[in-house]
Amino acid sequence: MPGILAQYLPDAALQLAYLIAGILFIQGLRDMTHPRTATRGNQISAAGMFLAVVVTALWFDILSPLVLAAALLIGGGIGAWLAVTVETTEMPQLVGLFNGFGGGASALVAGAELIDTFNGASVATLPVSLTATAAIAGIIGSVTFWGSLVAAGKLHGLVGDSPVSTNVGHAIKVLFLGAAVVAGLILVIQPETLGDSPIASWIPSYWVLVAAASILGIFLVVPIGGADMPVVIALLNSYSGLAAATTGFVLGNTALIIAGTLVGASGLILTVIMCESMNRSLTNVLFGGLGGDDGESEDMEDIYEGSIQETSPEEVVMLLETADRVVVVPGYGMAVAQAQHAVAELVELLDEHGVDVEFGIHPVAGRMPGHMNALLAEADVPYDKMRELEEVNPTFSQTDVAIVCGANDVVNPRANEDDGSPISGMPVLNVAEANTVIVNKRSLSPGFSGIPNPLFARDNTSMLFGDAKESMQDLVNDYKEATN
Ligand code: TAP
Repeated sequence: MPGILAQYLPDAALQLAYLIAGILFIQGLRDMTHPRTATRGNQISAAGMFLAVVVTALWFDILSPLVLAAALLIGGGIGAWLAVTVETTEMPQLVGLFNGFGGGASALVAGAELIDTFNGASVATLPVSLTATAAIAGIIGSVTFWGSLVAAGKLHGLVGDSPVSTNVGHAIKVLFLGAAVVAGLILVIQPETLGDSPIASWIPSYWVLVAAASILGIFLVVPIGGADMPVVIALLNSYSGLAAATTGFVLGNTALIIAGTLVGASGLILTVIMCESMNRSLTNVLFGGLGGDDGESEDMEDIYEGSIQETSPEEVVMLLETADRVVVVPGYGMAVAQAQHAVAELVELLDEHGVDVEFGIHPVAGRMPGHMNALLAEADVPYDKMRELEEVNPTFSQTDVAIVCGANDVVNPRANEDDGSPISGMPVLNVAEANTVIVNKRSLSPGFSGIPNPLFARDNTSMLFGDAKESMQDLVNDYKEATN
């Protein structure tokens, strides 16, 4: 029996609703390209998804309204709870889980549609357009689900994160990819293999394909170092979109095709941007590997010995009082310390005192795309104060003080100077060109790439050791005192 909407409205109404949802997704995505309009973009996209879900639920007689309402309530409740409780620093693994669930749902829905279409008839009646798209959705969705679980586990410290690249590992991947493809071909070419036996109603070749692709997903991500997980998550995000779009073809659902394609394309663009910002190729990320501990064996003492100058908040404030131009470079440490409000207050104070002050934001500072922009926006920093790498780099030579707050790799000159370093070729913020560089962090420990940073030992660098939030708050207090 058709759902309540289908009883009263012409078929075109459903397609119109999906078209409107598609337009809302596109407009939402467009708004998300700028921090100023990103929140609105999110809301517009959510409205599009709400429209698509409600119309689908009321158009087709899918489940009893009670079960459907309960599912929406429980799923929505868990989503809202996660959104409120998860720390910003844990956002990458949350996104990873969301991708995984999207992929898993696509694989399950494609399988369910196969069983539903079969519905007791001969397996041979399954159209190729259905079996082929279901096979693709099953493979991509299962890889995404298991790959994302492993990626989220690595980021959360539940799964070991050292990179391993072995021939056995590569052989296992090829084996399970082959098994999944063969099972898919059997599903498409010879769905009648099992005749009309009861077992055929479960379309076993589809579930063999799902099992093989699941193992493939695990083996694809397990060997990649935890360091590269954000890139992997962006790639899996793209996969989840592709799986959803293919499931859209399985179901003949236009809204799902549009939404999936947009997610697939944007995830891929993001992956490319992240790889370029780290000067890595995707192949290198997937099959090579920058480890979390590369270079840890390097003797930091040799590099830093006798060359580290320490400073205090009072001394930094004296510098700031005479500065005409200041650039603040935030990094992962600012996020961990939740120092963005103190940093924003310092910048506001400097601004009020006529200092030309800006933020220099590296595209991969922190641990997720847009990490710094999101934190600074949360602290109400005006968008016109946030400068991208290409814009701010030429200005360091005219900058009096560069304050590096919890950043390390993104200001490491070895990227430009040392061909053998793991971050070689990665574009970095050239803070050393400023008159004076103040680096605020708790110790001389390396950052994400695990290598020492010669910037700390430069003549014009002074280390302001301490937690970023406390140190920035000290600067705010001392600056207020000094300028009152
Ligand atoms: P990192 O190089 O990771 O350095 C962060 C520094 O913050 C650490 O050296 C740490 O030193 C300091 N820190 C930690 N907690 C702190 C606290 N409470 N107060 C003050 N400082 C603290 O960060 P980055 O410069 O932002 O670079 C990001 C790195 O992540 C790059 O290598 C990038 O390639 C990688 N990555 C980023 C992304 C995205 S999309 N953003 C994705 C993948 C990889 P102490 O322990 O001495 O305090």
